[in-house]
Amino acid sequence: MIAKSMATSFTLASVSPTLAINELTARRRAAGLPTIALGFGEAGLPVLPGLVQRLADSGARAEYGPVSGIPQLREAAAGYWDRRQLATDPELVVAGPGSKSLLYALLHALAGPVALPCPSWVSYAAQAALVGCRTWLVATRPCEGGVPAPQRLDAVARRAAASGEPLRAVILTLPDNPTGTLASPATVTALCELAERHDLLIISDEIYRDLVHDPGLPFLSPAALAPDRTVITSGLSKNLALGGWRLGVARFPDSEPGRRLRAHVLRIASELWSAPAQPVQRAAAWALTEPPEVRERVAASRRLHGIVARATSDVLAAAGVDHPPPAGAFYLYPDLGAQRERLAAAWSIRTGTELATWLLDRHGIATLPASAFGEAETTLALRLASSQLYGETDERRACALHDPQPRELPWIAEQLQVVAGALDDLVGKA
Ligand SMILES: Cc1ncc(COP(=O)(O)O)c(C=O)c1O
Repeated sequence: MIAKSMATSFTLASVSPTLAINELTARRRAAGLPTIALGFGEAGLPVLPGLVQRLADSGARAEYGPVSGIPQLREAAAGYWDRRQLATDPELVVAGPGSKSLLYALLHALAGPVALPCPSWVSYAAQAALVGCRTWLVATRPCEGGVPAPQRLDAVARRAAASGEPLRAVILTLPDNPTGTLASPATVTALCELAERHDLLIISDEIYRDLVHDPGLPFLSPAALAPDRTVITSGLSKNLALGGWRLGVARFPDSEPGRRLRAHVLRIASELWSAPAQPVQRAAAWALTEPPEVRERVAASRRLHGIVARATSDVLAAAGVDHPPPAGAFYLYPDLGAQRERLAAAWSIRTGTELATWLLDRHGIATLPASAFGEAETTLALRLASSQLYGETDERRACALHDPQPRELPWIAEQLQVVAGALDDLVGKA
C-alpha cells in the first residue's frame, strides 16, 4: 500500500473500472474464452424468494412517491440502525437508487476538498472529480484498509488548511473494499477525534457492515462517537446481493448542519432521480425490518463469503504472495511488491496494469489493478473479488450458499486450482 499522502486530480477515462472489467469478462466468455472472474465486486448470490415475491406484489405501484423515500422504508431503515445501537429518526433517512447515487449527491452538496483512504473504492475519487471536489488520498494503517491513518490525515488536514482550501470531509469504508479488511475501533476512535479537531464531516460507507466474517469482531461506526458529524451510507446490494435493484439508504446526523446537508442532498436528488423505484422500495422496506428469513440469508452469505475469501487467501499464501488476511466482504488485496524484480525480469511486468493484463491474457483470470483504487501505477497490487467463484448460474450459487464445505465444490475448487497454478507460474514456482 502506498505510504504517502497526495492531492490528486482524477481524470475519467472510460466507464468505472469495476463495471468495465465485468463487461470485458462477459465479452470474453461470449467469445468462448474461459475466464475466471475475480474483477467485479458483485455479491454473486440468488435473490431471496421472499424479496422476489414482495417485488412482484408491488409491481403495480408506479407512483414516484416522496424524494426521500416512502415512510415505510425510512422507518425500516431507522429500525435497522436502532438494532445496531444507533438510534435513528426516520426523518433523517434518505433512500436513493443505490448508495452510489447518495454518495454522489453528498459530494455534490459538500463541494469542497475531501480526504479518501488509499486504496479506496473506485467511485469516490471519480465522483469527486465529476463534482469538482479536490481529493486527498491518505494511506491507511497496515491491515486496516478503509480508514486514513489518523496521523497522516492530521498532516493532510493541516496542509489543506495552509493551502487556503481546508478539508471538508473524510470518507471511510467499514469494512473495506478493496482490501477486505476492517479498521479497529481504536483507529476509528482516533479518526473521530481528528474529525472533531479539524471540523470534518465523516462519510461512513457501511455497505459491507453485515458481511464482517466473524460477527464477534468489534465493529465501531463513527456515528456512535461523532453523531453530529457522521453520515452513514448503506444498502442492500451486498448483504442481500441486490446490486441491480439499486437501493441505498443514508442516515444523516441529528444536528443542525446534518439537517441542512440532508435538505441539500434532497434538492440534488429531486433533480437527478426523483425517488427510488417504488416497488423496490416496498420490497426493501420488508428486508430492512430483518425478519428471520432475511437474517438467515445474510448469515449464510456472510459464512460463504468468509469461507471462500479464506480459501483464496490460502492459495495466495501457498504461492508466497503477501496480502492482508480478509476480514469482511469478498475481497482480497494481494501485493506482489516483494516479487518486483522477478516479475520485471521474467515477464516485463512493472505496473499493476501489466500484472492484471498478464493474468488475463495468459491464464484467463480477470482482476483489477491497484491503480483503479487510487494507488500508483507502479504498485504491484491487485483486487480480487472472490464472490465470482460461486458459479455462473443461480443453481450453483444456491448450492454454494447451503453447502457445508463450499470450497470443496468442484467448480470452486477447480477455479482456485487455476488461480494457484497462475500464481506459481507468475512467481516462478511452476
Ligand atoms: C465500498 C462501496 N460503496 C458503495 C458501493 C455502491 O453500492 P450501491 O450503489 O449498489 O449501493 C459499492 C459497490 O461496489 C462499494 O463497494
